[in-house]
Amino acid sequence: MFCSVALLTCCNTVGTIEQVAVVDVDNPKAPIAETMYGLFFEDINFGADGGLYAELVKNRSFEFDTPLMGWEIEGYNRNSFNLFVLNREKTNPNNPRYIRAIVGEDGCKPLVNNGFRGMGIKEGNGYRFSVLAAVPEGDVTLKVELIDEQGNVLGASSVKPSGSEWQKYQTEFKSSATNTNASLRVSFEGEGIVELDMISLFPTDTWKGRENGLRADIVQLLADMQPGFLRFPGGCIVEGRTLAQRYQWKTTVGPIEDRKLIINRWNTEFAHKFTPDYFQSFGLGFYEYFLLSEDIGAEPLPILNCGMACQYNTGELVPLEEIGPYVQDALDLIEFANGSTDTEWGALRASMGHPEPFNLKYLGIGNEQWGPQFFERYAFFEKAIMEKHPEIIIVSTAGPSVDTDLFYYAQEQLPKYNAPIVDEHFYRSPEWFFENAARYDSYDRDGYIVFAGEYAAQSVGQGNPNNKNNWLTALSEAAFMTGLERNADIVQLSSYAPMLANADAWQWTPDLIWFNNMETYGTPNYYVQKLYATNRGTEVLDMSLAGAPLTGQHGIFATAAYDEPSGEIIIKIVNRNAEDMEFSMELKSEHDVADTARKIVLASDDLEAMNSFEHPTNIAPVESEINTDGKNVTLTLDGQSMTILRIKRN
Ligand code: AHR
Repeated sequence: MFCSVALLTCCNTVGTIEQVAVVDVDNPKAPIAETMYGLFFEDINFGADGGLYAELVKNRSFEFDTPLMGWEIEGYNRNSFNLFVLNREKTNPNNPRYIRAIVGEDGCKPLVNNGFRGMGIKEGNGYRFSVLAAVPEGDVTLKVELIDEQGNVLGASSVKPSGSEWQKYQTEFKSSATNTNASLRVSFEGEGIVELDMISLFPTDTWKGRENGLRADIVQLLADMQPGFLRFPGGCIVEGRTLAQRYQWKTTVGPIEDRKLIINRWNTEFAHKFTPDYFQSFGLGFYEYFLLSEDIGAEPLPILNCGMACQYNTGELVPLEEIGPYVQDALDLIEFANGSTDTEWGALRASMGHPEPFNLKYLGIGNEQWGPQFFERYAFFEKAIMEKHPEIIIVSTAGPSVDTDLFYYAQEQLPKYNAPIVDEHFYRSPEWFFENAARYDSYDRDGYIVFAGEYAAQSVGQGNPNNKNNWLTALSEAAFMTGLERNADIVQLSSYAPMLANADAWQWTPDLIWFNNMETYGTPNYYVQKLYATNRGTEVLDMSLAGAPLTGQHGIFATAAYDEPSGEIIIKIVNRNAEDMEFSMELKSEHDVADTARKIVLASDDLEAMNSFEHPTNIAPVESEINTDGKNVTLTLDGQSMTILRIKRN
């Protein structure tokens, strides 16, 4: 019933779709939500400590299970008499451990920290060392040095703590060289006893130059995407392996030395990527998260624990009669974000530097929870939030994966509740993504708003360490996303997951953005997300070929939008074929349209192709201008490409 595809056999094989696609420009079908394309952050793959959070010192508070993990102390053993780990649990339960060094004639060997797989140091860049210190006895100076693998000094300074009261000391210095595997060395001069905690080193060029800040290069990639929302803190990390190890937002705000460190649940999750040094310092906590969302213009979308530990792990449940504090945490988070400064939590926000509210609108309850145990707990949250904060839009969950028994069970239950938005997850093969471009075309229009909250095409299979961020996965996501946008009336939020991976310390692949301690790059999947987000449009338009939406006929997937602010028609087309394809459209409109169009293409003839530190833009958008014949547009779609056309409607 469809037209034939004529393949010309020449040096460049070009297929032709003889029928003309029609875009109904003047009759928008539905608004496209500003939240349509967002970001999912989880502290997985050293995404926070050792990643986005710019702290260079690993285990700065000595609170890892092994207190000196990350630290090398020449000549130190448990029988050392001049350097100890002390534990003041009774007086400081959140940060009990600290170091006592007895500096005498025999000296005290320096403390050396190699950061998260080496510190990435840049020539000419500033570094801020800080420490909490007390000197109960004597006169001690701390010599602070950045050193390379041979012990050469790249930058140095000193601080001289005094007095037996704990105080913060800090100093700034520059590095004279670039080094990818530098260490911080703290050595002792003088004679006496010195106590140290929170030994910290930050680059001064953090995002917006903030102390306790974030890596500017990573944030820039996020900001460039113009994300509609930022989901945080996950992911399974919300749930924890046990309830005790769940993510509790209240322990992540206030002074950083009071934020209680816990193990990161990805520490021992995968035998193929065992990372015993993976903990959560919460230096990047909920305040920093709200600030980041504000900085990059994204709606914050926190996901909170619903009284259940990860069902893939212990699946511990809080008894219903003890769920009160969990629900209270949700109400208090709303107060922390939005409450006036004379409320308890609003006052804390103000004391941290943000008296204005963060305008939190969305709140997710539970991550990938399933079964009756979820719904009976969820009900408590829904009731309390709707009573106290009817302005908050609640996000519920449809379980770990769509189209499974757990998902169908959730589908039966969800109508009994009032969550307007439901979080669906799919980590599937590229083929699944191509085949599901029409997934939402037949969804119930009277049901919930879809939040495609975690998805990524898996080149091998979910959880497999050999998954790659190759062009095939990105192309399949681009094809699938035409279906998200076409159904913008019911799909209003979506995010690729996970977002970040430290190339030297990851557990999960694929990931949107990869970094090491010096550099970062966006994967082809990142560029797909970025192209969608930065070419979103405000209203979805009907686009059809022979009366049907383009969901893979002739290997073509497409969607169209109108963008009110720019007055442009935005067409997104994915050509899955290896061949270039001649493709024609008629822009049906009573208005004139420009006879040139901006064309943005993301393509590769190699489905295995990837980006890398060496070739960060191997696959990246290429822009050009094409001529159109007014409302009749004919163009050649590159083989295996995603193409965006922006055409002005006069
Ligand atoms: O994105 C990685 C993990 O995949 C998330 O933590 C979890 O929600 C999902 O199973």
